[in-house]
Amino acid sequence: MKVVLKKGLKATDLSTLVVFAAKDSKSGKPITAKLSTDLNAIVSAAQQDFGFTGDRKETLFFRLANADGFKNVALVGLGSTAKLDNEAIRVAGSVVYGLLKSHKVTSAAVHADSLLKFTRATDQAVGALTEGIELSAYEFTDLKNLNKKSEKEKDKKPTLEQVSLLFSAAPSAAILKAHKRAEILVECQNFTRWLGDNPGNYMTPTILANETVKAAKGTGLKVTVWDKARIKKESFGGLLAVTQGSDEDPRFIIMEYNGGGKGQAPICFVGKGLTFDTGGISIKPSASMEEMKYDMCGGAAVIGTMLALARLKVKVNVIGLVPSTENMPGPSALKPGDVYVGRNGKTVEVFNTDAEGRLILGDALAYGAERKPVAMFDVATLTGAILVALGNTYTGVFTRDRKLMKRIQDASQQSGEWVWPMPLDDFHVDDIKGTHADLVNISGGRMAGSSTAAAFLEEFVGRDIPWAHFDIAGTAWNVAHRFPYNPKKGASGVMVRTFVDLTESF
Ligand code: BES
Ligand code: MN
Ligand code: ZN
Repeated sequence: MKVVLKKGLKATDLSTLVVFAAKDSKSGKPITAKLSTDLNAIVSAAQQDFGFTGDRKETLFFRLANADGFKNVALVGLGSTAKLDNEAIRVAGSVVYGLLKSHKVTSAAVHADSLLKFTRATDQAVGALTEGIELSAYEFTDLKNLNKKSEKEKDKKPTLEQVSLLFSAAPSAAILKAHKRAEILVECQNFTRWLGDNPGNYMTPTILANETVKAAKGTGLKVTVWDKARIKKESFGGLLAVTQGSDEDPRFIIMEYNGGGKGQAPICFVGKGLTFDTGGISIKPSASMEEMKYDMCGGAAVIGTMLALARLKVKVNVIGLVPSTENMPGPSALKPGDVYVGRNGKTVEVFNTDAEGRLILGDALAYGAERKPVAMFDVATLTGAILVALGNTYTGVFTRDRKLMKRIQDASQQSGEWVWPMPLDDFHVDDIKGTHADLVNISGGRMAGSSTAAAFLEEFVGRDIPWAHFDIAGTAWNVAHRFPYNPKKGASGVMVRTFVDLTESF
């Protein structure tokens, strides 16, 4: 589904016109841009007959209204104009898509001026609306109706393929650019979602690496994939320890994009690519274990981010790293108490094989640090504890660098992907000191599990590189109640847009 921009408000074959209205906080009545006589009459009727106020998420659908040559007219409320930021517009986009879908509309246009009247940065508004509509249209259907042979047989019903944004005057160059950018961001975020939604048997480490290579073709992104032999040669002890219980081979995916000057230090992103987490010998309870197919969503977010940065031709050098494996119990699986040697030479006692994300990330972070980045970010579905702390609305961010935290919060404000600063200090480091090795992979106490996990990761980054860790265990899937442009059940693709904004801030 695509949003396309057009000049002129003429109805052609477009059956439904969407018109936005805001709510006047004083009178409680809807306010609109300058509209035609037909449309004005509909807005007045909406207000007088149905009590329409223009409030956020308020909708009315006038079937066979025959206004300005359009068959149907839909009114969508934006709420108070004071609160109309980019995220509110994204949500309005999801309301538009949901309304059109529920009324089985197959051809639709949006009255762009009815939105732009209420916004100062009209380019950003068009970008956010495009994101809201297109992100809402994502569905993972690859594994349905496989027995139906032709595409035709699968999709008998006509569907909404396109929404036209109609402008009274030709859209500015800035608007066209923001729209193009939004489309790239959506395509990359949807790819991240698709990687996540595929089940463990369809998204093994090998497949994840192959799909990355395939997606990077023609984008200017260089992808190198290490197999098990190379991973061994490079002393990735943590990744090898986790992978030893699985029949699936591990992979280490290295993505490089050079949009900046030669010799300019890169930004480094690292993502957890655990394609299925059973817990290993410290096996998980069976309830909801199927959700652990999403344990590679951090890796998928890094892949989506790298694709977006390359396609947007951002003028920065960037490295993306994804260690990928399954975590399985088996005759040769890692055992509680086993000790391994990580990429940076530190020894680690594994007291719980279910705390495996930090093992594979540790090696990747140590490798990333060797490349001397200006900043390093990792993203992972790392701890159940972050769900207890923040629920599934906020991604937890851990960094000791206040300037970096501010930069991250600014990017999050742009993207609408909420983040919350979490503590990381020397006490947490004390908690992961080992008895018979340098480190232990779980803390003795049950408290602050997300912070002790972050402290463990920090041991592989060192203190010289500005670094932040994002725990997306709560925000990587099933978040539609808060972000309605996400699928009700399925991967959200969270962090791609934030990471692109963040990279652009360097
Ligand atoms: N992948 C899980 C974290 C997770 C749990 C993500 C639930 C999303 C929902 C991670 O590998 C894990 O198992 N962490 C353990 C750590 C513990 C053993 C210290 C956890 O959170 O229970
Ligand atoms: Mn685990
Ligand atoms: Zn895990």
